[in-house]
Amino acid sequence: MAKPINLPPPSPRPVGNTICGLRARTFWIVLFFAIVLVAGAVAGAVAGTLTSRKSNIKAKTNISNSSDPNAIDPNAILPSTRLSSANFTDEFGFDNYLLLYQLNSKAIYLSAFNSSNAKWIVSPVVDGTTETGESLETVVEGTALSIDIYWHSESTRDTHIYWQNINGTVRTVLYNSYLSTSSPDSPYGWIEKYNRADFKVAGTRASIVSYAHGCNWCVPWTYYFCQLPTQRITGAWRSATADNGQPGWEFIDFVNGVSLPAMDTSIALAPIPSLNNTPGLSLFTQSDSGALTQLVFDGEGTFNEAVLNREFNSKAMIVAFSTGFDDEGIDDPLGYQILSVEKSAPVYLTYYQAGSWIAANEVSALSDCSARASMATNQGQRIYCVVDDGNNGVEIVEWAWQADPNGNAASFANYERVGTYGEIL
Ligand SMILES: *[C@@H]1O[C@H](CO)[C@@H](O)[C@H](O)[C@H]1NC(C)=O
Ligand SMILES: *[C@@H]1O[C@H](CO)[C@@H](O)[C@H](O)[C@H]1NC(C)=O
Ligand SMILES: *[C@@H]1O[C@H](CO)[C@@H](O)[C@H](O)[C@H]1NC(C)=O
Ligand SMILES: *[C@@H]1O[C@H](CO)[C@@H](O)[C@H](O)[C@H]1NC(C)=O
Ligand SMILES: *[C@@H]1O[C@H](CO)[C@@H](O)[C@H](O)[C@H]1NC(C)=O
Repeated sequence: MAKPINLPPPSPRPVGNTICGLRARTFWIVLFFAIVLVAGAVAGAVAGTLTSRKSNIKAKTNISNSSDPNAIDPNAILPSTRLSSANFTDEFGFDNYLLLYQLNSKAIYLSAFNSSNAKWIVSPVVDGTTETGESLETVVEGTALSIDIYWHSESTRDTHIYWQNINGTVRTVLYNSYLSTSSPDSPYGWIEKYNRADFKVAGTRASIVSYAHGCNWCVPWTYYFCQLPTQRITGAWRSATADNGQPGWEFIDFVNGVSLPAMDTSIALAPIPSLNNTPGLSLFTQSDSGALTQLVFDGEGTFNEAVLNREFNSKAMIVAFSTGFDDEGIDDPLGYQILSVEKSAPVYLTYYQAGSWIAANEVSALSDCSARASMATNQGQRIYCVVDDGNNGVEIVEWAWQADPNGNAASFANYERVGTYGEIL
């Protein structure tokens, strides 16, 4: 019954607190980690296969009882859904991926993957049944979505999600401490911890991105960023002392020295971990004149902009992840992979390696992402896209990056298709 798992080759990367400038040591630790993972997965009698091109989530669809083949199934994935993803390593060393999306009913759902059994678990987050989630009438159709993980310790973490209310307000709920990825989580586990009145009113089709302290060398607080009706990007973070020594929100508007972003710009976010310097966050947006733009924020008040060598003709979807550390003289220097796609045009890669930005060629492995131009990534180097299922609906497909961030850049366009999560729910 159980097939051994066929894990894609691990890309060398730092794990935990093993970074000490020793390439060989890092490599052996990664290799050891990979062997432990594979051994654990095989011992755990794996049912799915990561490299399967077929769906590895079985449909639990509540198909509407209608003779009309064009009838909209409220429980199917919304074709215009946006996506957001986050990853974490749990206390047993398993890789976990979280993926947020919206259904036709406007409900917001979370699929969670645990490498111990290589299965996706589907859970409702905002489905109209809970008080914090409210009626689905208050959720924007095609809402911005964001998910992040606050890392307290190897075994404790909070998960935050963000979406937009029909009157524009950014909404957020959090799952305290233990969101399971091996059995479904109740929508009642998500609580509204923060005062709703403290949240920004975003533009009508704005993006929302978020980040929370995800590693020891990362920015310390819980952050979100969105585009205001003025087109400007604003940020908010929750610090321990913001409100007269008590926890509260601090705010920043990215205006001085920053180009005007395009209306409804996509926003990508990648952390800048640092061992010896100040960690930060990079936001990538499209400027009003069409250029890919990087905004570096130190997470506490200072920011600056760089205009990159990538131009768009129409509204682009932009996603990004980072690799390495923003420190001098180490074997894992900072890198970025930025993927961008305009509807029905190729997916392009723009990357940062060894201190230089390069506008690379198209990524043909991701050509299925072109038609809908709805993408997400996570720091675990997974890519998700909304793809037409050939049956009037859509499905979500996953790819894994197959490159060494410090290796030959010619391999940076290597993305391996992992699986399809069609008919989720
Ligand atoms: C299927 O949908 C119907 C009508 O919306 C609902 O009453 C029923 O509880 C649903 N069944 C499941 C298993 O979700
Ligand atoms: C579907 O609807 C038809 C007519 O309304 C009804 O006769 C039939 O029992 C329904 N089937 C199911 C599975 O609910
Ligand atoms: C996500 O995956 C990356 C790469 O494996 C890892 O370095 C990072 O620690 C993970 N994130 C968390 C919060 O564990
Ligand atoms: C926006 O909607 C929320 C929830 O539906 C409501 O609590 C809030 O008062 C509304 N704000 C405005 C300005 O209408
Ligand atoms: C991942 O699965 C393993 C084995 O079932 C389980 O022990 C672990 O708690 C799961 N991780 C999470 C975060 O649920």
